[in-house]
Amino acid sequence: MLRALRAGQGIVAGRVIIDCAGLQKTFMSTGATAPFKLLVTRRIPEVALKKLSETPGIVYDLFDKADVAIPPEEFRARARGVDGMLVMLTDKVNQEIIQAAGPNLKIVSTMSVGYNHIDVQALSRANILLGYTPDCLTETTADTTVALMLVTARKIEQALQAVRNGTWGTWDPLWMCGKDVHSSTVGIVGCGRIGQAVARRLKTLQAFGCDVLYSGPNKKEEADKLGCRYVSEEELLRSRARVYKDHDEIRRTRGYFGRDKFRQMKETAIFINATRGEAVVQDDLVEALKDGTIAGAGLDVTMPEPLPVDHPLLFLPNCVVFPHIGSASVPTREKMACMAVDNIIQYVLNR
Ligand code: DGY
Repeated sequence: MLRALRAGQGIVAGRVIIDCAGLQKTFMSTGATAPFKLLVTRRIPEVALKKLSETPGIVYDLFDKADVAIPPEEFRARARGVDGMLVMLTDKVNQEIIQAAGPNLKIVSTMSVGYNHIDVQALSRANILLGYTPDCLTETTADTTVALMLVTARKIEQALQAVRNGTWGTWDPLWMCGKDVHSSTVGIVGCGRIGQAVARRLKTLQAFGCDVLYSGPNKKEEADKLGCRYVSEEELLRSRARVYKDHDEIRRTRGYFGRDKFRQMKETAIFINATRGEAVVQDDLVEALKDGTIAGAGLDVTMPEPLPVDHPLLFLPNCVVFPHIGSASVPTREKMACMAVDNIIQYVLNR
């Protein structure tokens, strides 16, 4: 049974999202005779592929590579005539792809919580459903975000490099001293699922004991229960906060963090971004880090990805870049892949 098929749920009006978290796993006969043709654009965890193989009525074409995204031309060619697509955040699903697929395309399921790579309006116009994978990666991404805060604030990357490159000298009272994360003020811009999970780690374990502020269009009951304080974004930026950008609607936040925002922050601030690189004007961030407008930045996401090895951000001692590994634990990636597959299966069983 399709657990939730809701029109207009979420951010963009008129869009359709399937949210199949925790869906039922019994397979029923659909009554449909023609097999459902599915394109899977990347090798995904075995457990999810097995589910697909075991579902009667689905035939899939797998772009069987793990470390490269399907090239756009091949994507278009293999999309032709499919009924559904299981895609990654590296695949642009736009009008061109929808046209290449043709009228059979009824569902796109992305193995990601973010869907800024998908032209949602174009899907909506063509009456194509969109599946995504909320919730199952929240805790893992929050772990990574706290790791990013610690690595950035405590200069861990520089310290590890010193061990490897022989610049580790005698114990030195002044060497590699960073900032504390415990007892600090942390500001969360847009306190969604992941932001709240970050706040829980920083507040309730009584390990970090941070003062957590958050801003956004609405007060969040969950965040308030944790003892986080809802403040205006201006207040948040002007506080001594380590600023963490939560996964928000990227369409609305493209280029959101630029020179103006960095200038509002204190020179002790550390900026953390684990959402999408597009949310930041990277040239402005480079400038802010170079001229000391802010103290540091920890990024799990950049524009582009991968970041070219000669990119200025990679030469700044006060910037740490992770290669978009927010949700990269084995169990979480398996959950994401299974949820993306389940979204397809639920559609097939109910068509
Ligand atoms: C997502 O699912 O959008 C995340 O960025 C993956 O780590």
